[in-house]
Amino acid sequence: MTVHAARRARLAAQMQPGAVAVLPTAPEVARNSDSDYPYRHDSYFYYLTGFTEPESVLVLVAASGDAPARSILFCREKNLEREIWDGYRYGPEAARTAFGFDEAWPIDALDAQMAKLLANVPVLYYAVGASGALDAQVTGWIKTVRAQARSGVTAPASFQHLLPLLDEMRLVKDQEEQAVMLRAGLISGQAHARAMRAARPGMAEYELEAELLYEFRRNGAQFPAYTSIVASGPNACVLHYNANDRRMQDGELVLIDAGCELDGYASDITRTFPVNGRFTQPQRALYELVLAAQDAAFAAIAPGQPYSAFHEAALHVLTAGMLDLGLIDRARYANADDAIADKAHLPFYMHGTGHWLGMDVHDVGSYRDLAEPGKPSRPLVPGMTLTVEPGIYVRPSEGVPEQFWNIGIRIEDDVVVTEDGYRILTGAAPKTVAEIEALVGKGQA
Ligand code: GLY
Ligand code: MN
Ligand code: MN
Repeated sequence: MTVHAARRARLAAQMQPGAVAVLPTAPEVARNSDSDYPYRHDSYFYYLTGFTEPESVLVLVAASGDAPARSILFCREKNLEREIWDGYRYGPEAARTAFGFDEAWPIDALDAQMAKLLANVPVLYYAVGASGALDAQVTGWIKTVRAQARSGVTAPASFQHLLPLLDEMRLVKDQEEQAVMLRAGLISGQAHARAMRAARPGMAEYELEAELLYEFRRNGAQFPAYTSIVASGPNACVLHYNANDRRMQDGELVLIDAGCELDGYASDITRTFPVNGRFTQPQRALYELVLAAQDAAFAAIAPGQPYSAFHEAALHVLTAGMLDLGLIDRARYANADDAIADKAHLPFYMHGTGHWLGMDVHDVGSYRDLAEPGKPSRPLVPGMTLTVEPGIYVRPSEGVPEQFWNIGIRIEDDVVVTEDGYRILTGAAPKTVAEIEALVGKGQA
């Protein structure tokens, strides 16, 4: 059984007997006339199928009595003319064999087949409310089935949200997923190293972005997983800066947050380094603090630890450092806990220390304990994959030592929780002060 067929079987086993689930892939989206955005399949659909063509729908029928579960693909038919213009398409028969479905139909047969598949079915699972178009389609199918009531046919009377079941499955990455994510992390790490080697004062931020994109693509990654941030000098204090059009000045840091998407899986790395290859004393003080915060966060990642623990560990180290360095007024707070209770860290550290990572860069899955909703945070289990990304951002402000103004630093790595702790997926990106100073500017100019 393929990995995707096994996932379909696991999902079907969680559905009510005889229930049907419907899951379309993502639509194609026009960018402007005759030109689409690069096509990206829907993550849930890909998780269950491995199939990347647009205009595809997966239908799962759960086992009932002696009838086994079935999975059915609807996809585009073969079409010589369209294939001459746009390229190969599987067509239902080849897709059925290649991807292990029980049945496959042309997408144009969807409405007629759904009217049959939903007859006498008690429950329909789909992404309720996620898309007006899907809601309308489902309504149409239900109306058609209800119209057969006089022949004794019943329509689904209950609708269940499909995605929470899939969110829980996606949250824990299997071996196949971890292997892809490890490779995505390696490519992205090498891309950051490449950008470090290329960096020179006077270069534009977009020149470093080009180095990253080059390294992603030449290693087979299909896309950046999100819009790359190359933020030099004061731009590093703008969390979602991505214009990437400023010239980097001697003496400044540049913060790069960029990762590739490989075979549907994201990586997410941030590195911050001096444009000229030498940290100034204040830059280095803040850099070492963020690095220490990341180490403290790693130490809080292990099976059974609550999700919240690694953020709390990083926040404590960062806030203690902010007091030591005079970013936070030492006269007002006895210790880091007091400062955190008063949110004194917020002007300098205003984001969480990580997020789930997977097919989506901010991946699906609850951060709360679904079994115990009263608990704020769920325990980690092996296979969960997350980012660890403490930072510090100092905007010019009265009362804040001027030597730190306009310094923005974030250090972000990706980890998978293992049986005995965690494994870093992004170790190829240089990180210590010594590694960075040895590498920056050492490539061809
Ligand atoms: N690059 C997105 C994030 O770090 O969350
Ligand atoms: Mn991130
Ligand atoms: Mn990031």
